[in-house]
Amino acid sequence: MIIYDETTGLIGLHTRHTTYQMKADARGVLLHTYYGPRIGQDDLSRLIRPADRGFSANPADAGGDRRYSLDTLPQEYPCAGGGDMRVPALEVAFADGSAAPDLRFVGLERREGKYALPGLPAFHGEGWETLVVRLADEANGLRAELYYGVAEEHDLITRAVRFVNAGGGPVRLERAMSLCLELPEGDMDLVTFDGAYGMERVPHRGTLRPGVQSVGSVRGASSHQHNPFVVLCRPDTGEDHGLCYGAMLLYSGSFLAEAERDQFDTARLVLGIHPRRFSWTLAPGESFTAPEAALVCSGEGFGPMSRRLHRAIRECLVRDPYAGRRRPVLINSWEAAYFRFDADTLLSMAEAAAALGVELFVLDDGWFGERDCDRRALGDWWVNEKKLPGGLTALAERVRALGMRFGLWIEPEMISEDSDLYRAHPDWALGPAEKPRSRSRDQLVLDFSRADVREHVFQALRAVIDGADVDYIKWDMNRSLTEVWSASLPADRQGEVYHRYVLGVYELLERFRQTWPDMLIEGCAGGGGRFDAGMLYYVPQIWCSDNSDPIDRLFIQGGTSFAYPPSAMAAHVAPVPNALNGRVASLQTRGTVAMAGAFGYELDPRSLTPEERETVRRQVETYKQRWQLVYQGDYYRLTDFFRPGPYVAWAMVSPDRSRALACLVYTQNRAAGPLRTLCLKGLDPEKRYRVDGGGIWGGAALMAAGYPLPPQTGDYDSVTLYLEAVKGG
Ligand code: DGJ
Repeated sequence: MIIYDETTGLIGLHTRHTTYQMKADARGVLLHTYYGPRIGQDDLSRLIRPADRGFSANPADAGGDRRYSLDTLPQEYPCAGGGDMRVPALEVAFADGSAAPDLRFVGLERREGKYALPGLPAFHGEGWETLVVRLADEANGLRAELYYGVAEEHDLITRAVRFVNAGGGPVRLERAMSLCLELPEGDMDLVTFDGAYGMERVPHRGTLRPGVQSVGSVRGASSHQHNPFVVLCRPDTGEDHGLCYGAMLLYSGSFLAEAERDQFDTARLVLGIHPRRFSWTLAPGESFTAPEAALVCSGEGFGPMSRRLHRAIRECLVRDPYAGRRRPVLINSWEAAYFRFDADTLLSMAEAAAALGVELFVLDDGWFGERDCDRRALGDWWVNEKKLPGGLTALAERVRALGMRFGLWIEPEMISEDSDLYRAHPDWALGPAEKPRSRSRDQLVLDFSRADVREHVFQALRAVIDGADVDYIKWDMNRSLTEVWSASLPADRQGEVYHRYVLGVYELLERFRQTWPDMLIEGCAGGGGRFDAGMLYYVPQIWCSDNSDPIDRLFIQGGTSFAYPPSAMAAHVAPVPNALNGRVASLQTRGTVAMAGAFGYELDPRSLTPEERETVRRQVETYKQRWQLVYQGDYYRLTDFFRPGPYVAWAMVSPDRSRALACLVYTQNRAAGPLRTLCLKGLDPEKRYRVDGGGIWGGAALMAAGYPLPPQTGDYDSVTLYLEAVKGG
């Protein structure tokens, strides 16, 4: 609910559990006055007490009042160049070279429904309200519209900003962040989700120290190294108690999250497109829209914060037809065959998998051009008939005859120098063709800021996809952007290329969605190098990591779960020893962990023993029965990621709390350990539950006292408990 009190000027955005509040002061500076657990329309600008702070500048219109300084005021959209010395949301260079924008309140508009951001990902759906606050810098002819989306039921607040050059000369945006959040207490912890290829999004928590702490990406993708989701929380916040704020950027390119604890012990968080190598020139009348950011606040710890985000992502971000629908159990050829396959090998793998109940066969890298290794042929999107006589059409038909669907890997944004495409169009790669360009995995990046390049890729892939009537696409992206420069833009606009590239990716993804509305698309970037809410607007699931070892995945998937729901995390059972860390974990444990996501296999089913085949058959069958818990259930972390113990556990509970699946995996083994019990969460304390093979237990008892775990029998054991409420219980 959006309430605007015209008399006091107070603006309140109220969700079920939270309130966000702001107010333009007498000089038109839009102050941020509160965000936290729900309150009424109490005007909390009274908490802002003006004081003369030495060395804090006073704006020209302060009328000699030394107590009034932008350096000390909490603001909705602070600008660099004037008196505010903290991390800014906006940096602009005007035509005369001056660079001190000064945005003041002009007016606002409220409307039913959610604003849309053409060409950019955004939350959507029923039950939203929109607030647009208009700010202007009259002297410089710059206007800003701050968009706020309020989803009362989902406890979510979104933000975006649109700039219009209303002056007579060009305006260059040099930093245009999507979000600024001011908090009155600097005594906070910052939680970030970090890692590397093969170990993405592991949570790290630390004290917010005086000064600026940041995470970000300048790789052109949201990256393996950091994620555009961060949390600020009180030092005592845990899974089930304490105040925390989650901030998420719906963007898949370079980003920056900066948290500052300032001289007077307040905290400021800004989040948006990374300013490095970003600039955007607006001619008179032109506009620029910064991508959407979303905010969630929980007064009861990380658990509710994550569940609110999960629900919002499932119900208001991921689009039909896959939003809440079960996705097929798949088998992917990559870890089974890499580049070494022919049609018969693939078919016999598909046959063996179909016999186990697997529903979709995915042909990964290596099916096109002269692609016998990862050094060549990206861009040559024609089927290699030496490997696959009769092409994909013949293969797909034979796969379908087994009762399976057919899926295909592509990497549309890339080009190999050893390819027909590169020989014809060396200028289609990013970076000047006559200067040295960095290779990574021996490939270059196509200039997706260019419509002609995208058009070519689309037409080439359309022939392949239509020819084989493909049911599923894995859209991969296997390197960072370097030498970011486009032949299509003049020298003074090269700062736009990073962002135009992302807009190009979004445009092509949208075109895929429109052209093949029923095709399931999975995102991927060398594993989880582009796992973000921007992508989830276009694809319902993303390959979480190339590391499928279940013990490492506990931290990868567990870290990812702070922001993103299990339904977004593609997870497979892979061969042992694991390709990345050499660990040997049981098929059971590999299944337990993979089944906490969009489930599949990535091994050669022909190499399984009869006993293993039976285990796989049971896993597939079980997943088909319990998929709703994964795709629609409420997710509970049962262990604390910031105090690791001997096991990691989680539970997925149906929204009506009648069914639950609790899983536990041991990460450390030792002899003579204690007899353990697992305390559940999210159950109905009044209900009684039948625990699969373990009798009937009260919900309250299972949560307060726990369920006895069987003794550990080997390395990296796992336990799965399925609970169903007893009728009349
Ligand atoms: C990287 C992906 O993450 C893998 O799953 C696989 O598809 C390879 N690329 C293929 O080149």
